Amino acid sequence: MKIAILGYGTIGSGVAEVLRINQAQIEKKVGEPVELKYVLDLRTDIGVDNDKLISDFSVIKNDPEIKLVVETMGGIHPAYEFVKACLEKGKHCVTSNKALVDAVGSKLISIAREHHCNFYFEASVGGGIPVIRTIYHNYAGENLTEITGIMNGTTNFILTKMREKGADFEETLVEAQHLGYAERDPSSDIDGFDTSRKTAILLSMASGNRCRHEDIYTEGIRAVSKLDFLYARELGMTIKLLGSVQQVEDKYFAYVVPMMIPKSDPLFSVDGVYNGIRIVGNCLGTTMLYGMGAGKMPTASAVVSDIIAAVRHQHDFQGIGWTEKMIQIEPMSSNAFAYFVRVEGTPDAVKKELRELFLEDSSKLVPIALGGRTDEFAFITDVMFEGDFLQNVAEFEEKTGRRIFHFIRTEKEED
Ligand SMILES: NC(=O)c1ccc[n+]([C@@H]2O[C@H](COP(=O)([O-])OP(=O)(O)OC[C@H]3O[C@@H](n4cnc5c(N)ncnc54)[C@H](OP(=O)(O)O)[C@@H]3O)[C@@H](O)[C@H]2O)c1
Repeated sequence: MKIAILGYGTIGSGVAEVLRINQAQIEKKVGEPVELKYVLDLRTDIGVDNDKLISDFSVIKNDPEIKLVVETMGGIHPAYEFVKACLEKGKHCVTSNKALVDAVGSKLISIAREHHCNFYFEASVGGGIPVIRTIYHNYAGENLTEITGIMNGTTNFILTKMREKGADFEETLVEAQHLGYAERDPSSDIDGFDTSRKTAILLSMASGNRCRHEDIYTEGIRAVSKLDFLYARELGMTIKLLGSVQQVEDKYFAYVVPMMIPKSDPLFSVDGVYNGIRIVGNCLGTTMLYGMGAGKMPTASAVVSDIIAAVRHQHDFQGIGWTEKMIQIEPMSSNAFAYFVRVEGTPDAVKKELRELFLEDSSKLVPIALGGRTDEFAFITDVMFEGDFLQNVAEFEEKTGRRIFHFIRTEKEED
């Protein structure tokens, strides 16, 4: 099969490299050679032979020999127009572009269906972790009740360093930027939008219908401090940025938030730039996928796995994806969590209010003070709905005149 790559940056050049390194094995597996005929890029000094490198997309679109196109340019435009034009010509398309899949994935899936070709996007979530295909194939018979993951290497690197070094967010972000793990403009990662796009794709995959990342409640990690990590250590917990989707009967819940998680959670040990995705099915129970969620070669490897699928299924429509019907996500206020809460002052004078507002069983109030500090303490609430919790925070502050400095949603260690 003759293919073209659109965009020869980190991932596009990685795809060419994986195809070269594993050429013999790929040919053996799919029964024919996979030949890179064109690379589309705007630059000319990228080490690609002149007979392959082009800057005019219409050459690819109009070449009947090209049966498959890999989109690794990023962004929505012109990636959308290019992929759409290729699908309309019956060319299979593979992308690593989560922004594209989140924004117009359902349209592209339906165009692929109409033109009897396939649109694959394994690398758009979890880089080298095969989560899309696992949901589509391996868990096809499962009723998936929850998918929760650490899906952004930059934020996981920062949170891991904060825990290990007792460092604050700002200095760790600067270190991550120096090491090339964070962009100069890091907002998409640290404000949670990258995770939110991937969470939207997972919810769409799991539900079979479309959701928009804009509808997912999203908080990043800017407000997580070294003090939060000191408390977490006292509690035997850690803090991770999680994207989560849950299905309860016909209702869908989804959010992206920093969470305090206990050692018993398999995501506890997912550190540094690694990603982990925990999947819960009604018959399957809990399972976890773990690996490199980004980076040139792991992501390119996922793209190549899609190329192989496309060659194997070149004559049939595989149907990976979801419909254009929108699903409704329940409001954040209807999610229930236990909350780790940092309160101004010492606990003695406010125990009554804390018990009344945050704990059903008053004996459960276990205040934690760091090294004898008297300016603040922390505790963990009962599990309660977010809407009730926020109301109770306001009531507590009004009644006592004490501030609640910060809270982080938690999963309590099971007794
Ligand atoms: N990097 C990762 O670890 C990773 C992991 C998972 C998914 N992804 C996704 O993969 C996609 C590509 O990421 P990347 O890191 O490879 O980005 P990148 O290094 O910036 O590569 C994109 C390439 O596409 C070229 N390009 C952009 N617009 C073009 C156009 N209209 N015509 C021709 N060439 C064009 C760019 O050229 P110029 O430089 O001249 O603009 C650049 O060479 C993104 O959607 C990203 O979210 C990346």
